[in-house]
Amino acid sequence: MSEINPSNELQALSVEARAKRRQVLLDEFEERPTDSQLWQAAYEWVRAEGDHPEQASIAADISADELITMADTVRNTPQAERYNLMAQRASNGKYWFDVIEGFSSSKVREGQGNVIRSWVNNSDNPSHFYNALDVGTGVGKSLAILEGSANNVVGLERNPELLKIAKERAGAHTGLVQGSAEQLPFDDASFDLISSQGLRAALDKQATKNFLRELARVLVPGGIYIEGHYLHNEDGLHPEMARFIETSKAMLSDMIGDSTSGALTRIDCLSPEEEEEFLADLGLREEYYDQPDEDGVSHTLITLITKEIQGPHEDDPLSLEIVTVLGELYAEHGFDDKTLEDIKSLPFAEALETAYGYLTQAGLNADEILAQFIEADN
Ligand SMILES: C[S@@+](CC[C@H](N)C(=O)[O-])C[C@H]1O[C@@H](n2cnc3c(N)ncnc32)[C@H](O)[C@@H]1O
Repeated sequence: MSEINPSNELQALSVEARAKRRQVLLDEFEERPTDSQLWQAAYEWVRAEGDHPEQASIAADISADELITMADTVRNTPQAERYNLMAQRASNGKYWFDVIEGFSSSKVREGQGNVIRSWVNNSDNPSHFYNALDVGTGVGKSLAILEGSANNVVGLERNPELLKIAKERAGAHTGLVQGSAEQLPFDDASFDLISSQGLRAALDKQATKNFLRELARVLVPGGIYIEGHYLHNEDGLHPEMARFIETSKAMLSDMIGDSTSGALTRIDCLSPEEEEEFLADLGLREEYYDQPDEDGVSHTLITLITKEIQGPHEDDPLSLEIVTVLGELYAEHGFDDKTLEDIKSLPFAEALETAYGYLTQAGLNADEILAQFIEADN
């Protein structure tokens, strides 16, 4: 606590030194998110800085009193109900979810979009996505990236109030569904592209395992899951994180955001080693994409989880192709659940015959589709 200066001492410091003090307070807050002395210090700093709106800074047009009242309200509201407060409007007409800003980052979304595009442009991968899902979509900020990459897009959100805002904002053809990441209300193999941002920060170990199990279930073989994170690296904070120490209002906004999301109060989480092992058992493979900025500094990390195509025909490229194509067709036309599993368990000749049956049944030209792959193999 020795580093948390009273507001009068803070005023005497340079701009840089004040930003450093705010970072110290936020670091302490990460350790002790319910420590009321830290909250009181933050309130004092916000009051001392007053209501002069700094053009680009977070919550600049919200008065000190209004921001402090919201901080108190969040602290006095049970964790599970805090996102409801973010679906209310502040006096500037914006939803609190947008005022607070820290729930997601446009830079991270950009990074996710880049990985999706490079995946599509890589000829070894499917050249198109059919069904995409954003899990924990909040007010739907990530849906636009998916809308540009897939035929059908669905956002899933647990909180009904945030979901209402997502519905106001989403494109006419985007589906919005209330539900939990731990029990996705979708059939097996329903999506070939799934994304999330800021969801897993609040999931403890058991909830994470439940979510990953659900991912493995609803992804088609060959499908991908893309998750974006901020990076703290040796060269400094992610630029969007650095904005939270520019002013004391921004700092208090960060504290409100973290208290709402539950990121600092979750009890235990899956270690990277445990996660890798858990994913491997589910037939999922995890890799990371570092996203350097124009200046070459990496601030955004994307986790890409791929559902591998498995089965007795793994060494056979033709049967692999059939399973991949069926996976995509499945996503597009919604075959019944057992289709892919059935086909993967059959000897090759039978797999071909069964695939033929399913394609025909779905009203597709099976001869043309399969001939294309047989030709490619010869
Ligand atoms: C930090 S916010 C990010 C929102 C959104 N992805 C964005 O980028 O703006 C996390 C969101 O995940 C939702 N969430 C948390 N746990 C969830 C769960 N188990 N199932 C579904 N949604 C969940 C929260 O309600 C919240 O909207």
